[in-house]
Amino acid sequence: MIVYLNGQYLPLEEARIPVLDRGFIYGDGVYELVPVYRRRPFRMAEHLARLQHSLDGIRLANPHTTAEWETIIRTLIDKHDFDDQAIYFQVTRGVAKRDHAFPQGVAPTVFMMSNPLPTPSAAQFANGVAVVTAEDNRWRRCDLKTISLVGNVLMRQLAADAGALETVMFRDGFLTEASASNVLTVQGGRIVAPPKDHHILPGITYGAAEEFARDAGIPFDIRPIPRAEAYAADEWWLSSSTKEVLAITTVDGRPFAGGKPGPVFQRMHALFKAGTGRG
Ligand SMILES: Cc1ncc(COP(=O)(O)O)c(C=O)c1O
Repeated sequence: MIVYLNGQYLPLEEARIPVLDRGFIYGDGVYELVPVYRRRPFRMAEHLARLQHSLDGIRLANPHTTAEWETIIRTLIDKHDFDDQAIYFQVTRGVAKRDHAFPQGVAPTVFMMSNPLPTPSAAQFANGVAVVTAEDNRWRRCDLKTISLVGNVLMRQLAADAGALETVMFRDGFLTEASASNVLTVQGGRIVAPPKDHHILPGITYGAAEEFARDAGIPFDIRPIPRAEAYAADEWWLSSSTKEVLAITTVDGRPFAGGKPGPVFQRMHALFKAGTGRG
């Protein structure tokens, strides 16, 4: 595997960063993951705009122009022979003597890699997936895609411990998101999704689902979803770049929404396949 590190393309085994990198010491950095379908990046502009939002949020200057990012992404795609790829990249505040305050005059660290795009199995699309639920105890800037992910890691592990795929979270009685996915609901034929505020990551897949729904004439509402309303919903979905849209059919060990993917999910799944050029 060929990776990109600070201006160089090199084999993964040869990529090294110093232990004083602030990404390692503080989790002081941000990341992105762009899915690539049939060698074409999906919604690259949106991912690069979210990267800028995350960098602004942690007060780190963007080390590259949009054109430079696009060139590196395309070069990495070309260097790998699998067609569907997950381009991961992260920017940290660089290498400096350990001190919480920002170092002066330090170059950021830029690391990028491509892996085969993990996609859900046919069984997961057909039968839906299991989740557990938990109180969202993460910080209040979940809109920033930071590499400080221990809160999300602990949430995801709750699911793993229970043999489930994801942990769906509620904060102060309202649905937020899952540990590495957004959560959307269907209520009376309308898709209802939580607002893209500081409590959730503004998912690019969520945005794509919103656009596909609007184009197909499926009503898409965005508003806070109280817990009771969430539990009364007809369908719950997960969305993310590596999950696309998946129906949730088991919640905390009990069948949910009739225990099978609902009709609006089926439509969105088809819209998603078509919208990513694989329909
Ligand atoms: C916490 C969290 N929410 C939502 C998402 C979905 O974002 P996207 O659709 O851009 O992959 C992710 C993706 O990794 C995530 O980590």
